[in-house]
Amino acid sequence: MKTPKRLQSLLDEGLIDGVQRQLMSGKEAQVFVVRCGEETRCAKVYKEATQRSFRQAVDYTENRKVKNSREARAMAKGTRFGREKQEEAWQNAEVDALYRLAAAGVRVPKPYLFFEGVLLMELVCDAHGDAAPRLNDSVFTPEQALDHHARLIREVVRMLCAGVVHGDLSEFNILLAEDGPVIIDLPQAVDAAGNNHAQRMLLRDVENLRNFFGQTAPALLQTDFGAEIWALYERGALQPDTPLSGRFQRKHKTVDLRGVLREIDDARDEDAARRLHMSQAR
Ligand SMILES: Nc1ncnc2c1ncn2[C@@H]1O[C@H](COP(=O)(O)OP(=O)(O)O)[C@@H](O)[C@H]1O
Ligand SMILES: [Mg+2]
Repeated sequence: MKTPKRLQSLLDEGLIDGVQRQLMSGKEAQVFVVRCGEETRCAKVYKEATQRSFRQAVDYTENRKVKNSREARAMAKGTRFGREKQEEAWQNAEVDALYRLAAAGVRVPKPYLFFEGVLLMELVCDAHGDAAPRLNDSVFTPEQALDHHARLIREVVRMLCAGVVHGDLSEFNILLAEDGPVIIDLPQAVDAAGNNHAQRMLLRDVENLRNFFGQTAPALLQTDFGAEIWALYERGALQPDTPLSGRFQRKHKTVDLRGVLREIDDARDEDAARRLHMSQAR
């Protein structure tokens, strides 16, 4: 295909040798299949900030590292320099997360380089060598649903052990590769320790997995892995291989129903006695 404008400089620099086709255009980026010598790779071209949707919200960018206070001030003011810096921070966050997670053994696309707003990474493939489908577009048996779910819960744990919460994990951001599920799309990933919303995001990520796979394997709908994982993490007791039950005992006392009924009866008796006493007194 004709080289898209944003990929021309990578071609000029010899970083890629040709553009084969465009993959699905997502909410925040356009994704292309490109040739690099003998290999086929994936180029993710970020859309301009103004064309993007919801995810650059305050929640996600909270506590994101910026180089210095002048950049932080510019970002807060929303000057052009500030917007550019914010843009950079957003795109870099995905590259950082990919390197960090790959190093922690999480199955994510292998990143190759980041150049002028384009991320060059491994093309995740299915058994035929074609770009892998999203989970959302895949069909599987209940057994496979249980297996994928278990593997993804392990990946979530491994990510959290590496200090990262995905923040937008769902069947739309997981590809089904020949070797199993692969997590993609991480520019909104948050720092588990430094972001006040990390817990909520982790719970939502895990809930999305449960609800999606629960459609095929309903037994999963009874599980509560998110709360269990977060509780272990907070106690500093989470390891990549910590056994999980999928159950979580919330800390509220069970209601003493008999006691409550006794209180009600007592109150009723007391009230009756008072009425009797008053009518006698009149
Ligand atoms: N490394 C990859 N290998 C294969 N397909 C990919 C890869 N990265 C992205 N895609 C495809 O491009 C789509 C959009 O990419 P994604 O990173 O989710 O960006 P967006 O923020 O636009 O949702 C994905 O749903 C997937 O189909
Ligand atoms: Mg996506």
